Amino acid sequence: MNAIIPALSDFLDLQHITSDQFWGLLRLARELKEERNRLGQNAPILAGKSLALIFQKPSLRTRVSFEMGMVQLGGYAFYLSPQEIGLGARESVADVARVLSGYCDGIMARVFAHEHVVQLAQWSTVPVINGLSDFSHPCQALADIFTIWEQTGKLEGMTLAYVGDGSNNVATSLIMAAGKVGMNVRIVAPVGYAPDPAVLAESDADVTVTDDLDGVVGADVLYTDVWTSMGQEAEREQRLRIFPPYQLNRDLVARTRNNDVLVMHCLPAHRGEEITDAVADGPNSVLFPQAHNRLHAQKALLAHLIGNIPLK
Ligand code: CP
Ligand code: NVA
Repeated sequence: MNAIIPALSDFLDLQHITSDQFWGLLRLARELKEERNRLGQNAPILAGKSLALIFQKPSLRTRVSFEMGMVQLGGYAFYLSPQEIGLGARESVADVARVLSGYCDGIMARVFAHEHVVQLAQWSTVPVINGLSDFSHPCQALADIFTIWEQTGKLEGMTLAYVGDGSNNVATSLIMAAGKVGMNVRIVAPVGYAPDPAVLAESDADVTVTDDLDGVVGADVLYTDVWTSMGQEAEREQRLRIFPPYQLNRDLVARTRNNDVLVMHCLPAHRGEEITDAVADGPNSVLFPQAHNRLHAQKALLAHLIGNIPLK
């Protein structure tokens, strides 16, 4: 008999999740996606449940996939804009957490300071999900690993080359996620944009960091993200001078020497900057299945955290 996988109480970052728990979420995502594909709908396991969506930054995918995820599981989600909440300004994070805990069954928050999702979880009595902070984007990484698994049927021993800002939230979460499933990571980034050594130390993945584009040779997955993340707008001009050699273009795809390499981007893309149209819309791109899998991966999170569906 398989050992029981301990339940998660929040989903703040991947540092605090075991490999078994991560795999349990991947399997639950696959089950929920298959159920919906087969029957046209999911069982309403979140009937009567609600999720607060706190946003301090803009969003398309995160907002819509969480809202639709709740709807598809029979529940309800409501959006709270930056102006409405004023998290930590109009009202303390602790008070927001304690008030919302009495109204709803879960809180998803997209914040600037990672500390704010940590504080929400400390003060809330309902599960808290990090929908992106300056430090990490764990929902994205969960959906990305699910996509690689779905597209290739394997994860263990695969190599993901991330090209661009290796110090940002998406890179951080991919480095952590890879360690849960036995994937290797190559971070190909300009000098000064390498991952935080603390992140490398915490990940179980075999991670190579280089500024040499030959770091992509032999990669199974070629991943990029914007050069300037939300909140870094003041650095945009400087970054636009530094990052162009790291553009994901046809030459870089060819440099992997892998005709089947999967091209991934968390989106939104700045087409013509970190990725060309030819590559984003080319034969190796899985950008849109990847975006769509945000829905399925997060439904697994919601089913587990709010619906108490166990991880197996
Ligand atoms: N990838 C992602 O999180 O997209 P949004 O910023 O549109 O939510
Ligand atoms: N690194 C990007 C990801 C957007 C989904 C940002 O934080 O803006």
